[in-house]
Amino acid sequence: MMLNYRNTQLHYTIKGIGNPIVLLHGFLESSNIWNFFIPSLSEKRQVICIDLPGHGKSGNLEEVHTMELMAGAVHHVLTHLEIEKATLVGHSMGGYVSLAFSEKFPIMTSGLALINSSPDEDSEERKATRDRAASLVKRNKTAFVNMAISNLLSQENSLKFRSEIEELKKEALTFSTEGIVAALKGMKIRTNKLEVLKSLESQKFIVAGKDDPIMDYNRIENVAKTCNCKLISLNDGHLSYIENRLALQNFMYFID
Ligand code: MLT
Repeated sequence: MMLNYRNTQLHYTIKGIGNPIVLLHGFLESSNIWNFFIPSLSEKRQVICIDLPGHGKSGNLEEVHTMELMAGAVHHVLTHLEIEKATLVGHSMGGYVSLAFSEKFPIMTSGLALINSSPDEDSEERKATRDRAASLVKRNKTAFVNMAISNLLSQENSLKFRSEIEELKKEALTFSTEGIVAALKGMKIRTNKLEVLKSLESQKFIVAGKDDPIMDYNRIENVAKTCNCKLISLNDGHLSYIENRLALQNFMYFID
């Protein structure tokens, strides 16, 4: 479905009835990453998947897509659908957006699950990487997309899941340079949401990959403890929805 929003369009899918769950993809991804999970999940509840601004079939809003701006787009879709409360599940950047959403709209948040994600802000080193990434995207989008996606899992799993990774890359290459850069800039300036996560009173989960190359597993373990989140530890890297598909399906199915 397409929905008008601030001179552009937002794309989302909706399936099933009852107790809404919103699935938010990460950077360079789209709502397609959830395709495997929708059939079983939508048997017991309503499943809404949204393409975040600049990703999938959704348009761009501004030069910088802050996590709050993206959360505003999510809010627009939910308001349009007359959904008053939902559980948010966010993969990586989708987790940053879920946290921004729960900060802005706490009474609409009935649960939160961060998948391969974290409430921490970027380190100074990572901020510098974002700048380099933005200039590479502008010069050579293909090189950037190939490199960025390959960096998310081990060489072994890149081979094991070669066709899934190729699909991801192929789709990311259809995203506009402006949309990719806007997300990089937004992630770079995102603020720390540890207190938001800590004070959120709904059910909270963190799914973490023990070998995630871009999220420090020990830090995530600590965050889960500090913020009273149930931790689900999986093997492998940053792409649990590919690398640990059945475990993730099982986890999502049993969220209330
Ligand atoms: C993502 O997978 O959404 C991003 O790689 C997260 C990040 O770069 O911080």
